[in-house]
Amino acid sequence: MTMRATLGKRFKNPRAQHGFQGRTCSIISVGSYVPDRVLTNGELEKMVDTSDEWIITRTGIKERRIAADDEFTSDMAARAAMRAMQNGGVTPDQIDLIIVATITPDMPFPATACLVQHKLGARRAAAFDMEAACSGFIYALEIGQQFIMSRTYNTVLVIGAEKLSSIVDWKDRNTCVLFGDGAGAAILQHRPDAHGLLTACMGAEGDKAELLCMPGGGSRCPATPDSLAAGLHFLRMDGKETFKNAVTAMYTAGAEALRRCELDISQIKCVIPHQANRQIIDAVGERLGVKPDQVFVNLERYGNTSAASVAIALDEAVQQGKIQRGDLVLLVVFGAGLTWAAAVIEW
Ligand code: ACO
Repeated sequence: MTMRATLGKRFKNPRAQHGFQGRTCSIISVGSYVPDRVLTNGELEKMVDTSDEWIITRTGIKERRIAADDEFTSDMAARAAMRAMQNGGVTPDQIDLIIVATITPDMPFPATACLVQHKLGARRAAAFDMEAACSGFIYALEIGQQFIMSRTYNTVLVIGAEKLSSIVDWKDRNTCVLFGDGAGAAILQHRPDAHGLLTACMGAEGDKAELLCMPGGGSRCPATPDSLAAGLHFLRMDGKETFKNAVTAMYTAGAEALRRCELDISQIKCVIPHQANRQIIDAVGERLGVKPDQVFVNLERYGNTSAASVAIALDEAVQQGKIQRGDLVLLVVFGAGLTWAAAVIEW
């Protein structure tokens, strides 16, 4: 008997096709952390030639959080993870695998996930990082769910964490107003009688990699005095082209995820989009036919926190009671790569 038959007929579970024998995978709890330091648009007015009015009108962002000098991606990731573990009643020794999605690891290697493993005391856990920029959290959820579905592991900790303030050029008004720091975490386990992560559509368009990148610091351009002087170790972005691609990719991913589950957008309780720009969120929402009260937005307080963005938003939506068990949730993201992804979850 298919899972759809045993677990209800509100929607189709795409994973339950083709004689599927795996276990369903649910997010049993979430948690998030943002640093205390608030950087307002007013403060940015004193740093670059910009205005509160320009930033709010073009992006919707009012303020963002900035990590302390001695606070790193692994610290924020561990704090978010501890909150998720507390919310789910999960102890460090239960964790089988830690996946950290980030473009701002503490160091190029070892993986930030290993540093998080040590900070949590999760000694049994395997640990690795994965990088799909702002799409990283959904990519990591999908990877984590594969381990639960295949019965390889029972408990997977997925984290999106970023210290973007460490790669932003604070003299470049085109980018510095957009980004912030923070982390969000989710614990994945099998929950009987729940479909959990129904589907995740993921994709990439590598031919557009140059639109948003950090040119220096890798094998192509190792750090030298010249690369530093040329500012190659800062994030660079073609904002206009990125914007256009973001709207198309997020809409396409969201629509495909709904199609796979035979769902209409009206059945979705909460849409959680990547928190990059209010105009992108509105344009995607309009194309998907979303009602304003279906969309969760917190970017006015945090800006774009890349891989942490939907993870933090998901935690806040749960904390605020906007998502209850059994509700259907659509996550939809877009990032450098260019990468994109959308996931449908039965919460
Ligand atoms: N303050 C004041 N003026 C500014 C600022 C600023 N902070 N930034 C740019 N401007 C100026 C530009 O220099 C330009 O001036 P000019 O006409 O004299 O040349 C003017 O404003 C218009 O610039 P545009 O780039 O056309 O502005 P636009 O309306 O496109 O908004 C923005 C720019 C907000 C960056 C927008 O394009 C955007 O949000 N793009 C998507 C960015 C994004 O989401 N990136 C993250 C992807 S996810 C990841 O993986 C990290």
